Amino acid sequence: MDTLKNDKNLSSPARRIGFTTALGTLFATLGSAIGLGNIWKFPYLTGANGGAAFILVYIISTLLVGLPVMIAEIMLGRSARADAINTLRKLSPSPRQPWWLIGAGGALAAFLIMAFYSEVAGWVLAYIFKAASGSILSTDPSVTSQAFQSLVTNPWQALLWQWITLALVAVILIRGVSRGIEATTKRLIPLLFALLILVDIRSLTLPGASQGLAFLFTPDFSRLTAASVLTAMGLAFFKLSIGMGTMITYGSYYGEEENIPSNTARVMLSDLVVSILAGLAIFPAVFAFGFKPEAGPSLLFITIPAVFSAMPLGNIFMVLFFILAAIAATGAMLSLVEVPVAFLHEQVGLSRRNATLLTTLLLALVGATAALSNSTLAHWTFFGKNLFDLYDFITSNLLMPIGGFFVAIFAGWVWGTGKIREALSNHSRLSNRWVVNAFIFVLRYITPLLVLIILLRGLGLLPA
Ligand code: PHE
Repeated sequence: MDTLKNDKNLSSPARRIGFTTALGTLFATLGSAIGLGNIWKFPYLTGANGGAAFILVYIISTLLVGLPVMIAEIMLGRSARADAINTLRKLSPSPRQPWWLIGAGGALAAFLIMAFYSEVAGWVLAYIFKAASGSILSTDPSVTSQAFQSLVTNPWQALLWQWITLALVAVILIRGVSRGIEATTKRLIPLLFALLILVDIRSLTLPGASQGLAFLFTPDFSRLTAASVLTAMGLAFFKLSIGMGTMITYGSYYGEEENIPSNTARVMLSDLVVSILAGLAIFPAVFAFGFKPEAGPSLLFITIPAVFSAMPLGNIFMVLFFILAAIAATGAMLSLVEVPVAFLHEQVGLSRRNATLLTTLLLALVGATAALSNSTLAHWTFFGKNLFDLYDFITSNLLMPIGGFFVAIFAGWVWGTGKIREALSNHSRLSNRWVVNAFIFVLRYITPLLVLIILLRGLGLLPA
């Protein structure tokens, strides 16, 4: 009896249902990476941090930090076939070493991210309807600003849209990894690309679009500071869903035949392409109609509606734009919520349904503090940030880089290069020795150092 019970707790590979097809695996991973990070964060941070130079730092972080950590996480997850916390517990050389804390920190980060992410996703849902009804149709930013303010400062509206979002995610997750996550993302990702390209064509064919292109592609390095470099690296973590357990969890659903380095590189590149495409949808239009790119987090909700209202057929494109943002957000939220769900399901022993319901309930509670941070709880500020901004800052600029740092140290120095070679070559079935060696070198020597320096300098703990 006991052995049987233990067996269940270890969640042997045979019992777990993971992703079932190669394309489904790619799209689910891509669905996690692509999200509001591309459509909301990337454009507003690029706008607020001066454009091309910021993008360049972001791309370098993606290559030297994001890609290696992502490969490492998927590799660890597949090797252990467990949720994030137990992956590290299982692979740790001794049960006394607290590597599982990486997974636990990840679960905490997943909650904090979901708290504000589900709120923004709620705004996006609300905006689909507002765009369709024409209620945010105005070329005057003070009118669109008013519309946005009345949404976010109304406690019940803010909560309601967040709950709708959480319920939507729960309904998909309850269906399971393959029938829920894989099946949904496989349908949504192609649609997302199609919509994005459509909006791009509209924006790029506007008279005056070239100024937006110059902003995106001509770097001005004088705008970079240590803090904006940390922001760019934090964005790389956020974008690739790494440093917090998501890719470990998804890796545990990867089939033995998946080529992890090549799959990951494809995800990284596609994610970058989607960010650039989102930038191309937004900045040419922003400049063409004489708006400023520095609006910050509200860029998507105040500037963009005004911009769309000014263009021919703008109302249709605005509806499409918010639908595509909602699609992007959904795939990402599935992967965020899956981190605690997998843990509760496999280790605590709850059914998948109950694990999802419990997580959703907890998320509604934590999320409410973010949803109400512009109204009832607006006076709760820490370091000059309300709870919404605080969760965002803590996760992207602290928890994820710290998590990524330890993943790199654990995989590169503790787990060991022999096991990495075995795992990434699919036990020598792939002939990718060159790629694996390059990966090992970067993961051991470059990634941790870069994360540490950027983190300490960005926080002002290391003099320039
Ligand atoms: N990568 C997602 C996005 O860009 C956000 C995310 C972060 C998802 C962490 C999962 C884990 O929107």
